[in-house]
Amino acid sequence: MDLSLDGKRMLITASTDGIGYEIAKQFLKEGAVVLINGRDVCKAKEKEKKLQEEYGRDKVFLYIGDATKEDELLRMREYIAELWGTVNGIVANVGSGKPVGTRRLDLLEWENSYSINLFSAVKLIDIFDGLWEEEKSGNIILMSSIAAYDVISAPYAYAAAKNGIRTLVKYLADDYAKRGIRVNCVVPGNVFYPGGRWEELLSQDYEGVHQHIDKNVPLKRFARPEEIASAVVFLASERASFITGTALIVDGGQCRGIF
Ligand SMILES: NC(=O)c1ccc[n+]([C@@H]2O[C@H](COP(=O)([O-])OP(=O)(O)OC[C@H]3O[C@@H](n4cnc5c(N)ncnc54)[C@H](OP(=O)(O)O)[C@@H]3O)[C@@H](O)[C@H]2O)c1
Repeated sequence: MDLSLDGKRMLITASTDGIGYEIAKQFLKEGAVVLINGRDVCKAKEKEKKLQEEYGRDKVFLYIGDATKEDELLRMREYIAELWGTVNGIVANVGSGKPVGTRRLDLLEWENSYSINLFSAVKLIDIFDGLWEEEKSGNIILMSSIAAYDVISAPYAYAAAKNGIRTLVKYLADDYAKRGIRVNCVVPGNVFYPGGRWEELLSQDYEGVHQHIDKNVPLKRFARPEEIASAVVFLASERASFITGTALIVDGGQCRGIF
């Protein structure tokens, strides 16, 4: 299936591991050019090298820096403006459901979670606003979570911030449609990858986590990062040319609500 992503310049934040890394890989498989991002210098360079060896040095670029910080995002913009001139797609992937405090109604917890999970996307989209190609096409894809749809065991602030992503997508889609840019979000369920949050939770309570998955996920397993990446790549492709303002849930059937 031709997804018409050949040569498209895609920026993916938080992409030296986990879901973001798989998104970068799938875009590369479709012929796109990617800029990956992460904070840890060693890991980032190792992943850049790995992708360059597989897909070519001219296809993979790296920006090391915190994708939640405005000054870093401004530097990332400068770097991309010099490198590519324009972008064709942005995936605002940075996010974290790991609580920083112990109290669910601690305001610091909320400020931190909103900063990582919602404001990072707002800043990214705003900062890159002038860097779209004038060809009346482009894609913005944000990352929500099933915590925005169902009452699960997630931190409250994370659930609320990821709900904010859904609202942001709806409003941005309306606004950006005039410029031919589509805006959507993907809503992952429980995604396991080695080194990720679920591995940490499994190490704390292996039986409990597996019972939770068996009981709550009709497909009775974790998602793989590739399964989330496929949804992102589809939304960014011409196969999704009439889809904007939507949220694509990839959760093995976990969300039970009828929306
Ligand atoms: N995993 C799940 O089950 C799940 C479920 C629902 C939604 N989601 C959402 O999906 C997205 C990706 O999830 P994930 O599990 O793959 O996340 P993750 O494990 O936190 O992502 C790891 C990647 O993000 C980078 N990263 C983390 N914080 C960063 C920052 N501030 N700036 C730049 N890079 C940063 C890491 O590199 P460095 O550490 O080197 O920076 C690494 O490359 C998030 O928005 C998350 O909320 C995940």
